[in-house]
Amino acid sequence: MSLAELKLPDYREQLPEVAARFRRISQREVILRVDDLKKSFGANGSEHIVFNNVSLNIHRREFICVIGPSGCGKSTFIRIIAGLDECSGGTVLLDNHDVSGPGPDRGMVFQGYTLFPWLTVKRNVMFGLEMRGKSHVTAEAEARQWLDMVGLAKFEDLYPHELSGGMKQRVAIARALANEPRILIMDEPFAALDAQTRCQMQAYLLQIWKKVDVTILFITHDLDEAAYLADRILVMGSNPGRVVEFIENPVPRPRSAAQFISPEFLSLKKRLEELIHPPVETGEEEKLPMIKLTVAGDEVE
Ligand SMILES: Nc1ncnc2c1ncn2[C@@H]1O[C@H](COP(=O)(O)OP(=O)(O)O)[C@@H](O)[C@H]1O
Ligand SMILES: [Mg+2]
Repeated sequence: MSLAELKLPDYREQLPEVAARFRRISQREVILRVDDLKKSFGANGSEHIVFNNVSLNIHRREFICVIGPSGCGKSTFIRIIAGLDECSGGTVLLDNHDVSGPGPDRGMVFQGYTLFPWLTVKRNVMFGLEMRGKSHVTAEAEARQWLDMVGLAKFEDLYPHELSGGMKQRVAIARALANEPRILIMDEPFAALDAQTRCQMQAYLLQIWKKVDVTILFITHDLDEAAYLADRILVMGSNPGRVVEFIENPVPRPRSAAQFISPEFLSLKKRLEELIHPPVETGEEEKLPMIKLTVAGDEVE
């Protein structure tokens, strides 16, 4: 079969174990309910709509990836869920409670390194725990548990500048999880890492997610990353931002690098590519201005 013929498998028929997993997921409680969400800037007349009509339900312990072109409102969307930004319409319910401001039920990990540089690794993780009123002894014990979980127990006394990028993000994950959030919100957390470290971090994150009762909402622009990590992938479009499709990932778990060339993985990626890069309409090319080359024979195909 050629790649062009690949279609997203109807896993309900072809992959019964995947279908069974999605049935189990759909039976879990809905943890995040987003209904007709809208964000815009400016007043009537000069209103700039970032996105509108965004509705979705996420079940407990689902791993959701969000992809879409730059500027379609992915970060704005999750900032609203995090309570860092206000919406212009619609509702966000977390555990059936209206989201109106940040709270410990939501943990955040961003692309940029956000650790406190003047605190050690352990103190960075302890910070939120002590803020929430835990004693020094309890906070220290819990911080050590979380650092163990991300494989950094040996590095607890180092300062952030002594860590590699991947290690910093592991501390950031430990710090976010230490507050026992219901949902972990991650905005391109591995985008600044080199390709090999990024792959290791993805595998780490899946291991951690298996052990912790947490739902993950993860923005990425890397289609492989989304296909490797997600249960479902929210594809957003732009002008204005909107939900294009919410795709169930047919790649079976547990995931491994070997699956990157499996028919399910390739067909999912092909579908994502189609949605992210719709074909250029015929005639569009002719509309582009021709910029004359000065050297004859420099034609490209
Ligand atoms: N404070 C703001 N005022 C006006 N426009 C904004 C503001 N914040 C974000 N935007 C606009 O919202 C759009 C979506 O931004 P963002 O959520 O960062 O997109 P993404 O994360 O998908 O790249 C962008 O076009 C940006 O210009
Ligand atoms: Mg963004």
